[in-house]
Amino acid sequence: MSPLHRTLPVATALVLGLTGAALGSSASAAPAARPPVVGQPGGSWAGDPYFPAMGATGYDALTYHLDLDYDPVDATSGTLDATAQLTLRPTTTLSSFNLDLRGLDVSSVSVNGRRAGFTHEDGELTVTPRRPLRKHVRAVVRISYGGTTGRPVDAEGSLYGWVSTADGAMVVNEPDGAPTWFPVNDDPNDKAIYTFSITVPKGKAAVANGVQIGKPKTRAGRTTYRWFESSPMASYLTTATIGDFDITTTRGPRGIPIINAIDRDVTPANRATSEASLAKQADMIAFFSDHFGRYPFASAGAIVDDDSVGYALETQSRAIYSRSASEGTVAHEIAHQWYGNAVSPHRWSDIWLNEGFATYAAWMWGEHTGGRTVEARAAAVYATPATSGLWTTVMADPGPLNLFAGAVYDRGALTLHELKQKIGDDAFARLLKAWARDSRYGNATTSDLVALAESISGQDLSAFFDTWAYTPEKPTTW
Ligand code: ARG
Ligand code: ZN
Repeated sequence: MSPLHRTLPVATALVLGLTGAALGSSASAAPAARPPVVGQPGGSWAGDPYFPAMGATGYDALTYHLDLDYDPVDATSGTLDATAQLTLRPTTTLSSFNLDLRGLDVSSVSVNGRRAGFTHEDGELTVTPRRPLRKHVRAVVRISYGGTTGRPVDAEGSLYGWVSTADGAMVVNEPDGAPTWFPVNDDPNDKAIYTFSITVPKGKAAVANGVQIGKPKTRAGRTTYRWFESSPMASYLTTATIGDFDITTTRGPRGIPIINAIDRDVTPANRATSEASLAKQADMIAFFSDHFGRYPFASAGAIVDDDSVGYALETQSRAIYSRSASEGTVAHEIAHQWYGNAVSPHRWSDIWLNEGFATYAAWMWGEHTGGRTVEARAAAVYATPATSGLWTTVMADPGPLNLFAGAVYDRGALTLHELKQKIGDDAFARLLKAWARDSRYGNATTSDLVALAESISGQDLSAFFDTWAYTPEKPTTW
């Protein structure tokens, strides 16, 4: 979904549980008298060179309603029985269209209430509706699917996607793990509104993005949790994590709910650390709002799982932590809500725009709370020997196997620190806010940042960014 196409009535309709047929005229077939519409197949790749199968073209996904019924089987697998209902808006007249879905089987697909043809091979689900979908006429797609879940790993070997655990599942998708649990246009540029309805064995809890709709309902030994994220969200930021969670709600700045879910089985020491860090979320949101502009989402909070994928992730409005949440990591994930989640990278090569900003923001929080200064942390990073991967990697094009490298995080943060020296404190302060605001709920590139910094500062910054973002060497002059 692009912000231009934002149609909250559809989201509202989904929340109210209305079916496709109730969503309006777009859902009904064309009158018989019209000449047949000729369409073309949508593409099966969104165009990101790092991920040659990711995403699709030919339509804009507006909403996803994911109905997930899950049972853990053992410590490494479970069974998922699910339905995904999507509304999408064709950007051209489509004879067929594509979604990403890996490792699960599709049993049926309907489009606007009528059974549709489909093929599903190598993670590509191609749907052929009975009649072409007309350009700009919204369609409702229902996909029934499911199967056995495992513990998928990404290209770098890290656990991601729907990670089955002994007590449920820990669900973290960055960068391309979303298709391990739902059919999706897995392109960070196609943000959408999501609702989740997650049914688990009684006693378990399911936590997703946004806010809970109603109280969990238990029937025949199974409990259904419903969640709704009202702001556009990239697919890699979705979660539907299941475990032995206690869910508590407090209030943050402007009254937003801060919803925390902590697994009952985290160790007492990890619980103490996590609770202390999470208690600071309201202050962090207030501090970052002063510097970055208003908090972009309607809720906040955290999931602390006793299981581990080995890292934390900034899942939208509800970051997730493996076993424990340290204060520095919480500051980092909260900062991502502005940088990464509200404004997301257009291409995965731009990932430093997420990680450099979040790392820099956590430095700011550290200094603000009496820890090491930003200056000292920047100096420590700069002291890294010239032979380090920090310098020999191209920060703004690190390659798909280096998305989470030091060259992205620490060099990214140092680049911002040096940019501040270069353009001055006032221009830098304005840049932080404008960057979070101008592309809010959308996407941006490194060149967009350069252009914005140049327009705010009135300086030519091409040499600065050449050195810091595009040259695989330790900068000495800039
Ligand atoms: N974006 C996450 C963070 O910085 C880190 C994700 C790491 N993922 C991985 N596969 N290593 O908070
Ligand atoms: Zn990060």
